[in-house]
Amino acid sequence: MTASTPTRFTLTQADIPSEWYNLAADFPEPMPPPLHPGTKQPVTPDMMTAIFPENLVEQEMTGERWVEIPEPVREAYALWRPTPLLRAVRLEKALGTPAHIYYNYEGENPAGSHKPNTAVAQAYYNKIAGTKRLATETGAGQWGSSLAMACRLFGLECTVYMVKVSFHQKPYRKLLMQTWGATVHASPSNQTKYGSKMLAEEPECPGSLGMAISEAVEDTVTHPHTKYALGSVLNHVCLHQTVIGQEAIRQMELADEYPDVVIGCAGGGSNFAGLAFPFLRKKIAENKPCRVVAVEPQACPSLTKGELRYDFGDTAGTTPLMCMYTLGHEFIPPSIHAGGLRYHGMAPTVSHAKKLGLIDAIAYGQTEVFEAGTMFARTEGLIPAPESSHAIRAAIDEAVQAREEGKKRVILFNLSGHGLLDLGSYDSYLSGRLKNE
Ligand SMILES: Cc1ncc(COP(=O)(O)O)c(C=O)c1O
Repeated sequence: MTASTPTRFTLTQADIPSEWYNLAADFPEPMPPPLHPGTKQPVTPDMMTAIFPENLVEQEMTGERWVEIPEPVREAYALWRPTPLLRAVRLEKALGTPAHIYYNYEGENPAGSHKPNTAVAQAYYNKIAGTKRLATETGAGQWGSSLAMACRLFGLECTVYMVKVSFHQKPYRKLLMQTWGATVHASPSNQTKYGSKMLAEEPECPGSLGMAISEAVEDTVTHPHTKYALGSVLNHVCLHQTVIGQEAIRQMELADEYPDVVIGCAGGGSNFAGLAFPFLRKKIAENKPCRVVAVEPQACPSLTKGELRYDFGDTAGTTPLMCMYTLGHEFIPPSIHAGGLRYHGMAPTVSHAKKLGLIDAIAYGQTEVFEAGTMFARTEGLIPAPESSHAIRAAIDEAVQAREEGKKRVILFNLSGHGLLDLGSYDSYLSGRLKNE
């Protein structure tokens, strides 16, 4: 490598994609529809408008391949998009690998992760539909802070139910949300009937994303002018994230390479979908092969150990039934530091892609994940979020395998967020207190 070896591949504001890509339009076999829990019949749009605005329900169900991005959303994207694509040459050198490791970095926005890509879109669609207030849940606080920021940009109130274990582990994310003007409750809380019931049964309950979703949904249906926003899992959320992969395809062209393997960490599946789905489009429509790998924690292994079946999206069982890989809606994952990966299910689109053999999945324990995140920080400088470090672990393992086989391999992974507000978890790792659950 010399100083003239290109390592950063950037696009201009004019290159922000003008459409989102909908993988559902390209599946060789249609996705099973969400079902009404009572009748077991496919849900109709009017059932969903109790909690979502009509324009987002339409997007959730669309069969269109390309969906136009409204100009006010592109303008908000311009605050931080296009995001950079970098080649991790120092990591490659440290590993002594012939592999080329590229990563897309989603942490360069005020909230620090990929979540604003859908937060600004959801806030915009709610605003034009007349919503005044959004209720939501958050795990590690990345989604809650993104929605708090987006609500500010589009003039909406925001209430966030934050999983209790993260509320205490990550106080600065709570403060970010409050600084942007949101109201934040530790979940389970006494704000809802469901939360109060959970607290009565188990006062020290650490909470889970599924529980916090139940609280946010109950809040929505019991308050006027309020709608619910979800930060992952649903089709429209994965759709909004596809700006990531579309930009990465163009940036890989600038690097004059095409990935052999595309990697993303997967909690509910949205950042993985965002990077991977446009590459799956290339695989399906242009016969451009590449292996696509979702990485999850061993403590919450929905894709690698879950069952593909209909299940609820929340713990209380109030949402429509979705066909997805699930550990069961009552599964409460151990309190691992990658709080954003503690979800019992997987996005139906990602689940369907797995069922059809379009993607692979692997799981890691958190000590090997932090080992990878720390190696990345010590070679590339950037301190990754614990969630993103799952993707780094897989990228490193791919690069080591390439070294052992003596073959060049082009690896692309999504670095979904920075870890500057996760330093408490690095403290646990560095002081040897971190254990695999
Ligand atoms: C930085 C980061 N990466 C990944 C995730 C996992 O979510 P998803 O699977 O929807 O991308 C989260 C969730 O909060 C996150 O904060």
